[in-house]
Amino acid sequence: MKIALLGYGTIGSGVVEVLSINQDSIARKAGEKIEIKYVLDLRDFPGDPIQSRIVHDFEVIVRDPEIEAVVEAMGGVEPAYRFAKAALTAGKSFATSNKALVAKHGAELMDIARHRGLNFLFEASVGGGIPIIRPLNTSLSADVVEEITGILNGTTNYMLSKMSDFGSDFDEVLKEAQQKGYAEADPTADVEGDDAARKIAILTSIACGEQVNFEEVHKEGITKISSIDIKYAKALHRVIKLLAQSRKCEDGYCAMVAPVMLPKSHPLYNVDDVFNAVFVHGNVLGDGMFYGSGAGKLPTASAVVADVVELARNKGRDVMSSWSGNVHSLSDYRKVERRFFLRTTDTKEAVEKAFGNVEYICLPDVPGEIGVLTGVMTEAAYQEKAAALEHVLQMIRVE
Ligand code: HSE
Repeated sequence: MKIALLGYGTIGSGVVEVLSINQDSIARKAGEKIEIKYVLDLRDFPGDPIQSRIVHDFEVIVRDPEIEAVVEAMGGVEPAYRFAKAALTAGKSFATSNKALVAKHGAELMDIARHRGLNFLFEASVGGGIPIIRPLNTSLSADVVEEITGILNGTTNYMLSKMSDFGSDFDEVLKEAQQKGYAEADPTADVEGDDAARKIAILTSIACGEQVNFEEVHKEGITKISSIDIKYAKALHRVIKLLAQSRKCEDGYCAMVAPVMLPKSHPLYNVDDVFNAVFVHGNVLGDGMFYGSGAGKLPTASAVVADVVELARNKGRDVMSSWSGNVHSLSDYRKVERRFFLRTTDTKEAVEKAFGNVEYICLPDVPGEIGVLTGVMTEAAYQEKAAALEHVLQMIRVE
């Protein structure tokens, strides 16, 4: 099968590498040899073995009847969307690692593929190399998914792990994450939670079978997490993780991305560094967990190439009827019940007047404030009660 690759950056070059390292086993599993005929990039790569296959014009690819599948590893919505639509319309299946593209246009592109007997696959768009899209689509199709809770961003998980292990500060660990190639070009998407919001929107769309707009996901990043918060978490025998969570409620799903304190007993407690994990609760399965390398060149390329193998195996047969174009409006995330940790300079009397019985955490080396762990309540109730306090320095959700 002759394919074209769009983008020869980190992931694109990883795809070339994976196809070369595992050439024979991939051919055996695909049922035929996979050959990259073109690589589209704005740049040239003199001296690189790929140079002879570099093209700068997408039309060369779309007009070539030998190309059966197009693999996109450019990132960003445009021109990826235009290329995906043109490739599918021209009868070529499409595989992508691009969560921005899938979160925004996934329903439409899957629909075009379905009507043409093609496939639009996107395993690498969530959780890097961890299989999660295909399992949700197929292995868990007997279940109604009631909860998906993931650590879906490797950069922020790496940063929070380092902040927790070494007491390092935010800027220092961000620089390190960028040097290691985990962070996006613009780290805002990682640290403000946009990347994880797109990923949980994709997973929730699969769970409910309709398009979840990522803009509706309530989102808080990790930029306000300080070394003081980490100290409180340790005193509470918990770790702070950036969770992307969706839960089924009476009228649909609610979803959010936010830092959460997890106890040792939580399955995501030990997911550290750049690793990702997705905890799934199905109404008949019970609990399930997917864990592995969530970002980086080869893990992500592993999932992209697995999609290419799937395309080769399923020519003329749509295997991904993930979700329709109907929009699923998310329910109010403030309906979810949990405990809350807050830091305040108000008195214990004021805290108890607002929240009733609470637990206190007082750190000798953090004078002038108190840490408070509330009972279980909805987030709406928390907000109402917290409004009665004069100074809330920080609030972190607690599992
Ligand atoms: N920047 C993303 C992360 C890359 O850190 O998880 C993988 O989507």
